[in-house]
Amino acid sequence: MGADAPAKPIIEISGLRKVYRVETEKVVALSRIDLTIHKGEVCCLLGPSGSGKSTLLNMLGGLEKPTKGTVKILGKDIGTMGESRLVKFRQRNMGFVFQSYNLLPALTALENVGLPLLFRGTRRRARKKAAMKMLDMVGLKTHAKHKPTQMSGGQQQRVGIARAFVSGAPIILADEPTGNLDSKTTAEVMSLIVSRARMNGQTLVIVTHDIRIASYADKIVHIFDGKVEAIEDGPGDGSALHAAEASEDTETAEITETVTGGLLV
Ligand SMILES: Nc1ncnc2c1ncn2[C@@H]1O[C@H](COP(=O)(O)OP(=O)(O)OP(=O)(O)O)[C@@H](O)[C@H]1O
Ligand SMILES: [Mg+2]
Repeated sequence: MGADAPAKPIIEISGLRKVYRVETEKVVALSRIDLTIHKGEVCCLLGPSGSGKSTLLNMLGGLEKPTKGTVKILGKDIGTMGESRLVKFRQRNMGFVFQSYNLLPALTALENVGLPLLFRGTRRRARKKAAMKMLDMVGLKTHAKHKPTQMSGGQQQRVGIARAFVSGAPIILADEPTGNLDSKTTAEVMSLIVSRARMNGQTLVIVTHDIRIASYADKIVHIFDGKVEAIEDGPGDGSALHAAEASEDTETAEITETVTGGLLV
């Protein structure tokens, strides 16, 4: 984005409220959320467990209907769309990365990555070619024929990322994409998602409870008790995660030195 090009809103949330009913109880998951996310922005929704992050992300993806208020994506109010129009809109404009990967167990890595293109009606050969290119991008060309159970967690998530990006959707929504991964794989997966989105000028919204992951974002939206508590600029470079990794390495080195020292002396 050029320094003086005006930022274009791509996601506009206004007066959003979501109330769930559980038997006779009312759960206010979101109340009065106003938020604008701009094209090409990396935005993080940061907050503790139960604060409403997933609910908010699901509303951005049109997976849930607002109780009140509006969610506009690319200028369209998705709350008023009928289900089949919404499905098409989602296929064209959004890619999803889930914490639990959500790969289809009967399909190979290549077939899983190609799914969004299948739904869009892309022909088999073109689908295979695009899916293979994405698998290559995430470093898994050699695992194209593997089924999900034949891959590690980190590999499955990389397949999930390839699937989210394969159709070049302008918006990528990721809910705790590294929630099940160790810290080294977390840094790899985060760098992959963020660099890919930045390279393509895609808008990325990541849900996390981890402040270190939020350091990959340009904009950090603090969610607390169903409300936006604060919005701050983030460094956008993952520096907090890298710093934590480096200090872990030093700690490990120190412990190793102490232990081996003790053993050797
Ligand atoms: N389908 C549902 N029915 C009833 N209540 C729900 C439903 N989904 C979410 N909630 C409630 O809404 C609130 C927000 O939940 P949400 O899943 O958005 O939190 P979260 O910030 O993503 O938490 P976590 O970090 O644990 O994933 C919680 O109180 C939760 O119990
Ligand atoms: Mg959640």
